[in-house]
Amino acid sequence: MVQAPLPVSRRRQQQLLDKRYSVTLSKTYWNNVGSDWDLVGPPLRPSLEDTAIMEGLVERWHNSINLVFPQAVILGVTQEIVKMRWPANTNILAFDREPARIHSLWPHHTVSNAAALCSNWLELPLIDGYADLVLADGSFTLLAFPEDYIKIAHELSRILAPGGIVAVRMYVAPLRLESVDEIFKDLWEGKIGNFNTFKWRLAMALIDPSDFTVSFDEIWKVWNDKMTSSEKLAKTLNWPLPVISMIEKYKGCDSTRNTYPPLEKVSQLFAPLFKMEDVIVPSYQDGERYPTVCFRKI
Ligand SMILES: C[S@@+](CC[C@H](N)C(=O)[O-])C[C@H]1O[C@@H](n2cnc3c(N)ncnc32)[C@H](O)[C@@H]1O
Repeated sequence: MVQAPLPVSRRRQQQLLDKRYSVTLSKTYWNNVGSDWDLVGPPLRPSLEDTAIMEGLVERWHNSINLVFPQAVILGVTQEIVKMRWPANTNILAFDREPARIHSLWPHHTVSNAAALCSNWLELPLIDGYADLVLADGSFTLLAFPEDYIKIAHELSRILAPGGIVAVRMYVAPLRLESVDEIFKDLWEGKIGNFNTFKWRLAMALIDPSDFTVSFDEIWKVWNDKMTSSEKLAKTLNWPLPVISMIEKYKGCDSTRNTYPPLEKVSQLFAPLFKMEDVIVPSYQDGERYPTVCFRKI
């Protein structure tokens, strides 16, 4: 005999809904940042110099291999990369696992040879050998170290055709971690070029040296503890307050984490599958923390 479903109270229905949404819409920075992404600037996004470095790497690679219809993959929906100068007839697929971010950032009206898909970079919906090149800007920093770095090396090697490359701008913490006081002193003395440079300097100083990881909430807590007045900082340095206030979005985002492992550690993990061919350090402040690296599939 089929039993009639038990009546579920409104309160219980709400509890079930809350539970469901707390899983799918847990507080991560990335489903919360939306159109405010315009307030985030280099080095957290590629500068003109970074884009030129990426274009140069891709051009050199293309000259050496000369494909008629190159297939490119981007880890993320980085507008600067989508809109950069590409070899003729390149097809681009960009991947991000947050639908909200694709909706708010994807420049679908301007790029006809590119599409964005919702997917995890560690399990890309592509056949073996599909791609000729993979580009990424800061994307590895979202991966857990070392386990996801190992997984992504295998996944990128799987989807790349022979001779394929991965060109990625990395975020690398200095070997000697700075003290927080030192960074805030430089901040107030006007020695740091912009707020985003400060934000990543602070983040890198706070990593756990065992796995090079820091959560956005931890960054916010230290900021909240040390910063007496954002308004005063904005006035003193003549920086836009809305750019500074973006750090408030980090509050409570303890499941959003960044990793900043040393380049040697990443190249060691990649070594069984990739040869590190190029490391290009940009000329801007703290440039050694933001190298663009080219790995070639072995
Ligand atoms: C700093 S960006 C990194 C990529 C690139 N710089 C961009 O602007 O899109 C953060 C984005 O990476 C995405 N992300 C993080 N880990 C991911 C993963 N394993 N697979 C797919 N997307 C991921 C997040 O959803 C977020 O939208």
